[in-house]
Amino acid sequence: MPDRRERTTVPFLTLKPGEAAEATDAAIRRVVDRGWFVLGPEVESFEREFAAASGVGHAVGLGNGTDALFLLLKAHGIGPGDEVITTPLSAAFTALAIVMAGARPVFADIDAARLTIDPAAVRAAVGPKTAAIVPVHLYGQPADMPALAEIANRHHLALIEDCCQAHLATCAGRPVGTFGHGGAFSFYPTKNLGSVGDGGAACTDDGQTAERIRRLRNGGQSKPFRHDLAGVNSRLDELQAAVLRAKLPFLEQWTARRRALAALYQEHFALSDPTVPVEHDPGHVYHLFPVRSARRKQLREHLRTAGIDTLIHYPTPLTQQPAFAEHQPAASPVADAACHELVSLPLHPALTDTSVNQVIEAVRAFKP
Ligand SMILES: Cc1ncc(COP(=O)(O)O)c(C=O)c1O
Repeated sequence: MPDRRERTTVPFLTLKPGEAAEATDAAIRRVVDRGWFVLGPEVESFEREFAAASGVGHAVGLGNGTDALFLLLKAHGIGPGDEVITTPLSAAFTALAIVMAGARPVFADIDAARLTIDPAAVRAAVGPKTAAIVPVHLYGQPADMPALAEIANRHHLALIEDCCQAHLATCAGRPVGTFGHGGAFSFYPTKNLGSVGDGGAACTDDGQTAERIRRLRNGGQSKPFRHDLAGVNSRLDELQAAVLRAKLPFLEQWTARRRALAALYQEHFALSDPTVPVEHDPGHVYHLFPVRSARRKQLREHLRTAGIDTLIHYPTPLTQQPAFAEHQPAASPVADAACHELVSLPLHPALTDTSVNQVIEAVRAFKP
């Protein structure tokens, strides 16, 4: 084992463009030289290219992933008086989008192994005001979409997938975002496909929904200065679209690298503490790699001493966030327990073999 002073730190993530550096530079130059910055040819091309890569009919470029969820809900008429069932284990933005639409988020607990929303809990949460289900493909692992689609169909609910952590993911061989009425993607810089600022897309197979969201994102205008709908301002800009176009051709190989790194971690961590997540579907794209430990604090400290950065996704279940208190969330004991134990290890396409081995060695050396 090398001396501690010789070890390099393993950062949690790098946001440098890697293999896409040259194409990213050229893309930025192209946009600046063209002098066209909002809703132009780069956005149009990216929408076509991202829809094709994602196996969905239409993609509409938006300001961020939260707006993508919000506008998908709004385009399906969901608003005040409606309840929307979602998971308590996610980025708060999932439930905030429901609140933005004017609806009430209702949290259904997660499946303990998969960490995504539990279809049995969803069934129990459906009531007369339920209008939609918003499952999250958390950490890149698809939620149990066949079961959730069955519930949505039976109760005539909208099914809007939060795909913000799941670019190119599939569930039972089918692309995420295509099981119900649409999928919301984020291009926040840390995502599997990240821009150099904020960005998002609403994807749907339904042309009318896509058209409605296209209008809603631009103030509800049907033509310049004619506002038919009370829309918002949420437009993916040309610079972000051009950078995303430069990176998109690499997404498949980056996803393969994420999967290979996850397989390496899984192979080496046949331990009782920490435990590793179970892969429920080969369409998992490993946005994050959380492990679970009842001694999380000690594990993080041990890894920090070994030069390894970790993060927690997420420290607090959404049921306990003050922002949602007025919606009187039900308890979510399974998500609560996960929030106390999860710790995310570094996993990104630029992680070198040396760094991966350093993480593996350090985790294996953890003696709780
Ligand atoms: C699961 C999930 N949903 C929604 C969002 C919101 O995306 P954005 O930050 O682009 O608004 C994020 C990212 O923060 C996310 O991880």
